[in-house]
Amino acid sequence: MIQVFAHRGASGNYPENSLSAIQAALEVGVDGIELDVQSCLDDYAIIHDTWLDRTTNGRGKVNETSRAQLSHLRLSNNESVPTLQQVLDTIGQQATINLELKHTFSLDKFVATIEDNVQRGVIARHQLLLSSFDHHQLLWLKQKLPWVRIGALTASIPLTFAQFAQQLHAESIHMDKNFINHEFVQDAKQRGLKVLAYTVDKAKDIELMLDYGVDGIFSNYPCYAKMVVQQQ
Ligand code: G3P
Ligand code: CA
Repeated sequence: MIQVFAHRGASGNYPENSLSAIQAALEVGVDGIELDVQSCLDDYAIIHDTWLDRTTNGRGKVNETSRAQLSHLRLSNNESVPTLQQVLDTIGQQATINLELKHTFSLDKFVATIEDNVQRGVIARHQLLLSSFDHHQLLWLKQKLPWVRIGALTASIPLTFAQFAQQLHAESIHMDKNFINHEFVQDAKQRGLKVLAYTVDKAKDIELMLDYGVDGIFSNYPCYAKMVVQQQ
C-alpha cells in the first residue's frame, strides 16, 4: 500500500499548515504530514509563503516578524500560525513528520531543536523526514544529523535522473506529479530510492501515480486519497 501524506495538513478542508489541519489529518490516520517551515525573527513558523499576506491577516515578511507578533495574527479560521514546537508537540509520534524547509535560517538552532525533541521523546527519529528544494541545505543537515531521513524535492526530472538524490543520501525523492513517468520511477527504485508525488488530489491522478509505481503521495484531501488508494 502506498503512503498517504497530508499536504500542509488536511489543507483542502482546513487552513493550510494549521493545527486544525494537522489534527484532521491525524484523525484520518495518515502515514505522514507535510508542513512548511520558515524562519521568523526569533523562532520557526509553520507557513508556506515568505510573506504573511496570503494566509494570515498580517502584512510583511515572515522573517521580519517575531514570534510574539506572529501570535497575534490569525489564519482564516481564527487560529494562529503554529510554531515548529507546537506542531512537534501536536503530532508527536502519531505519524511521520515531513518538515519542508523553505526560507529557513539558523540551521544550527533548528538542528538543536530537533535533537532536543528526540531526546525528550516528543518525536521519534524514524518518524522525521526533512525535505527541501535547497539540496545544499539537505547535504548540510545530513552531515549534522546522520540518522535523519532526507527527501530530495524536485519539480521536474533532473538531467542525472535519480542520481542527484543518491548523492544527498536521501531516502526519497519528492516530485511534482506532472513530471513523473515510469522511466524515472524505475531509475529511482534501482537506486534504492522512493518516489513520493505532490500534490495529488483527484482519483484519476492517484490511479496514475499507482500505475507509475510511486511509494507515496502528498494530498490536500488525505481522507479521500486514502479511500481511493484502498479501493485499488
Ligand atoms: O513537499 C511537497 C510540496 O509541498 C512542495 O511544494 O510549494 O507545495 O511547498 P509546495
Ligand atoms: Ca510544501
